[in-house]
Amino acid sequence: MYEVLPKQWRDNVFSDLDDEWMLVTASNKEGKINTMTASWGGFGVMWGRPICFCVIRPQRYTYGFAEEADRLTLTFLKKGFRESLALCGKKSGRDCDKIIEAGLHPVVCRDVVGFEEARTVIVGRKIYVGDMKENGFLDKSIIGRYYPTKDYHRLYVCEIEKILTAEEP
Ligand SMILES: Cc1cc2nc3c(=O)[nH]c(=O)nc-3n(C[C@H](O)[C@H](O)[C@H](O)COP(=O)(O)O)c2cc1C
Repeated sequence: MYEVLPKQWRDNVFSDLDDEWMLVTASNKEGKINTMTASWGGFGVMWGRPICFCVIRPQRYTYGFAEEADRLTLTFLKKGFRESLALCGKKSGRDCDKIIEAGLHPVVCRDVVGFEEARTVIVGRKIYVGDMKENGFLDKSIIGRYYPTKDYHRLYVCEIEKILTAEEP
């Protein structure tokens, strides 16, 4: 993998997220790994630092991992892994070894988890965590549409430590 600086990264993150989807991955204190598919999140600048963010509902198994971990990774897979992403977005790591079922191969370096099948891995260190609140939604239609059971996402803002890409920059 090649490392690119945030300002050199040329991806269209709108199509990356909305069309291709990503994996949000973390390892817990015992070194167990879990991952889930996500299509909501973003990249930008906060507090003078390059950041990425993702949102995780409390019922996800990944939530406990994200809580324990200091770092999360956001991974965009190479073309041809749509079924793997669909599986990781449907099955829970509570019930099966979905990483194996999805045909994915984790690459672990200390507390950072990437995948052999990755096109891009963004390594983020958690710097802000907060739960979405009902009174924060000015457009109330979002609540009815996305939170009928009030399972508001937890927001994880991470400082981008590394962007690794399989394609030569
Ligand atoms: C395209 C897609 C996008 C998703 N985006 C999110 C997301 O941003 N946040 C979230 O909490 N769940 C999201 N999910 C749902 C989780 O991926 C799904 O519930 C998964 O099975 C959770 O696995 P886990 O229990 O092992 O954590 C998404 C699912 C799909 C298919």
